[in-house]
Formats: sequence, structure tokens, C-alpha cells
Amino acid sequence: MWDKKAKKKIGDRELMPESLMMSYGYRPDWSEGAVKAPIFATSTFVFETAEAGKEFFARAYGLVESDPDDETGLIYSRLNNPSLEILEDRLTLWDGAEAAAVFTSGMAAISTTALTFLRPGDLVVFSEPSYGGTEHLFHEVLPQMGIEVACFRSSDGAAGIRKVLEEEDSRDKLRMICLETPSNPTNDLVDIEACARVAREYSTGDRKVLLTVDNTFLGPVFQQPLKHGADLVIYSLTKYVGGHSDLIAGAVLGNREYVDMVKGTRTFFGNIAGPFTGFLLMRSLETLKVRMVQETEHAEKLAAYLIEHPKVAKVSYLGLLKEGDEGYEVYRTHCTGPGSMIAFEVHGGEEEAFRFLNALKLIKLAVSLGGTESLAEHPGAMTHSDIPREDQKKIGITPAMVRISVGLEDPDDLIADVAQALEAV
Ligand SMILES: Cc1ncc(COP(=O)(O)O)c(C=O)c1O
Repeated sequence: MWDKKAKKKIGDRELMPESLMMSYGYRPDWSEGAVKAPIFATSTFVFETAEAGKEFFARAYGLVESDPDDETGLIYSRLNNPSLEILEDRLTLWDGAEAAAVFTSGMAAISTTALTFLRPGDLVVFSEPSYGGTEHLFHEVLPQMGIEVACFRSSDGAAGIRKVLEEEDSRDKLRMICLETPSNPTNDLVDIEACARVAREYSTGDRKVLLTVDNTFLGPVFQQPLKHGADLVIYSLTKYVGGHSDLIAGAVLGNREYVDMVKGTRTFFGNIAGPFTGFLLMRSLETLKVRMVQETEHAEKLAAYLIEHPKVAKVSYLGLLKEGDEGYEVYRTHCTGPGSMIAFEVHGGEEEAFRFLNALKLIKLAVSLGGTESLAEHPGAMTHSDIPREDQKKIGITPAMVRISVGLEDPDDLIADVAQALEAV
């Protein structure tokens, strides 16, 4: 058996994720010496013997006890595939997770996790704002299945959860707390450690309250929620990890027991990603840190420009937080960089925000984020339009708000574009 743990060290030195990202989880002698893992474009795998096939199935379906370090043999690409298994191993590195499961999208990762652990009568509490698709899943889809859903404002943090839980009389029902931090689009931060304490307090011997964190905006480079007490961390890999706006994928990371449970559901929902997506993501992971660091540098410059501009009413960017600001302590203790998502409000309302968006020349008017190119959108009318306007206001999404995902273009070119577009406001 290939010893993965040994591969993470040179002597006593633990190697950094940047160093492992080009090789971890793959041996060139599996593929004619190829330095890069090939795309395993196959739907099914040959068993050496019928007995081996029987054993692989028994392990995959949990019919026999198996050593956690023993990989399930390759069976069929809806269950497992080397292009995804190598990727999953690499994804664990930044977050220090035991295991990872990759999905066809971030929403597939979120919904499959929810439906693995939630049953009718259970209560899930989630932070608002969250990505619009997540909001829809929690507010509209899960209640149809008899799952009770409550939400709290991210900026209220653990105190907000406690308030909701007191109102809901929920000691015996709470099963899951789901955070999105920083929140899309407002960049609110939630204290993960304080929420982990609530989850522990509400857990009983046979009912563990799970804490999940959608870490799409900062992770895995600038924030690692498992280290702050989260049970599962979730990504839309479509964003920074994919990083080139050319794929859709998602992931769930955590301890092996929970991730295996999620993978069990994935097998029957049939929403594992395909091998070509696995290949693209491995290629992207090699440059993840350099991209995120560079994009952050550009975002810092752009945010500094925006905050001084007379047509800009408010800028929400983590790099602008100062001691004493709401969120500063969480930023200081949880995050190692501010990332490259900026939300800002122009003076005026939707009409003025639209004028700005329509005038952009270099930055593209499109939803999504985390790619090499800068993208701008209007959360109220686009990504979060499913949330009624009144509710949008309560969670900090205003008609004058624009969200920009800052990419790798020259930062002074980006500022020039924003400057000329603001003239149209
Ligand atoms: C924070 C966050 N989580 C999850 C998702 C959903 O990801 P996907 O589009 O890959 O399903 C998004 C999409 O924008 C997001 O911004």
C-alpha cells in the first residue's frame, strides 16, 4: 500500500500544500511515467477476479468493516475514479481535512450534505445573507421535505443563533448550523469558534449538531474553518479553486466518517464530478495560491480607490477593516488575507448601479467570481434576486450595491475602468 502520510514529509519537515499540489496522491509509475496524472476517461473498471469485485462492492456499500486508510477499489465512475480521487486527496491539504468529496457543482455539495444529515422534523439554522441558491435551498426546498429552517443575520454571529434557538424551542430538534463566511455578497464574517461552541452545547450523546461552513470566498488559502471547530467545509470549486471560469464543481471536506456518509449519498444522487473536471481542477490547484495572492493585491488597490470616490457611498471589503470595526476580531483570528471580493454601493439606487455596470469596458458584467478575469454584477437583481426586496434590505443587500470579483488584470487598468464607469453614475 502506498503510504500517503510519508509522502507529506522530507525527514521531519512537513511539506507545505504549495509543494505537494503538483504530486500528492499520484505515482507516475501508474501511468507510464507521466509527470501529470492523466484524465481517466472511463465509466467502469476491470476487476482482476470476481472475488475482488465482490470485496470492492462490500467495502463501497459498507457491508464490511474496512481500514480507513484502505482505498475502496475502483468500480464505476459514479462511485469513484482516479482523476477525482487524486483531486480529493489534494483538496484535503490546505484545510488539513481527513477526506474530501467532489461534486458536479457547489450547490450539489451543499444540497447533498444537507440531505445526508437532515431528516423531517430536524431543524437547520443558517446565516444570512448566503449565496442566493443556498438561500433558495433552505427557504424553499428543504421545508417541502418537512425540515425546519431558521436563519440568523451573519453579523449577529453566535448570539444571533442563540436568539433563534430560544425562540424556536429547539433543543431537541437542532441538527445543523450552516455558515457562509465571508457572506456573499456583503463580506460579513461569522465567528466560527463561537458557533462551534453553540453546536457543542446543543449536541447530545446520540445527536451531534453539525457545523458546516461555506468557505468559497476566502478558502482554502486565506481561511481554514476546520481549524476553528467546523465539522465540514464546503466549496463551490467553480470559483477560486477552479479559478478560470471554465468549469462548475463543488466539494465537501471534513473527517472521514462524515465525508464517507456524504459520499454514500453522492453515489445514489449520482452527482460526482467527471474526470475531465477533475483534471482541470488539479491543474488549477497548482496555481491557486499565486492567483489568490495576486488578485488580493489588486483588490486592495481597487478598494482603496473606491473608498475615496465621491460617487461611492459604502465599500465592504475585508482589507478595509480596522480595529474596532464589526468583524475585525473575527478577521484577525480566522483569516490570513482579505481575498478579492468587493461589494460597494454607489450614491443612488438600482438605476445608478446599473449605469455603472453598463458602462464597464474591461470588467465583465457577469455573475460568478474567483476567476482570472474581473466580474461585476448586481446582487439585488441577479444572484440574490430570489430574496424579496424587503428581506434583502434586512440582510444588507441594497439596490445600490454592486459586487466585483477582482481578477488578474493590471490593477491600474481596473481602476481606470471603474473610474470611467463611475462617471456614468
Ligand atoms: C458562496 C457560494 N457558495 C456556493 C455557490 C454555488 O456554487 P455553484 O454555482 O458551483 O453551484 C456559490 C455560487 O455563486 C457561492 O457564491
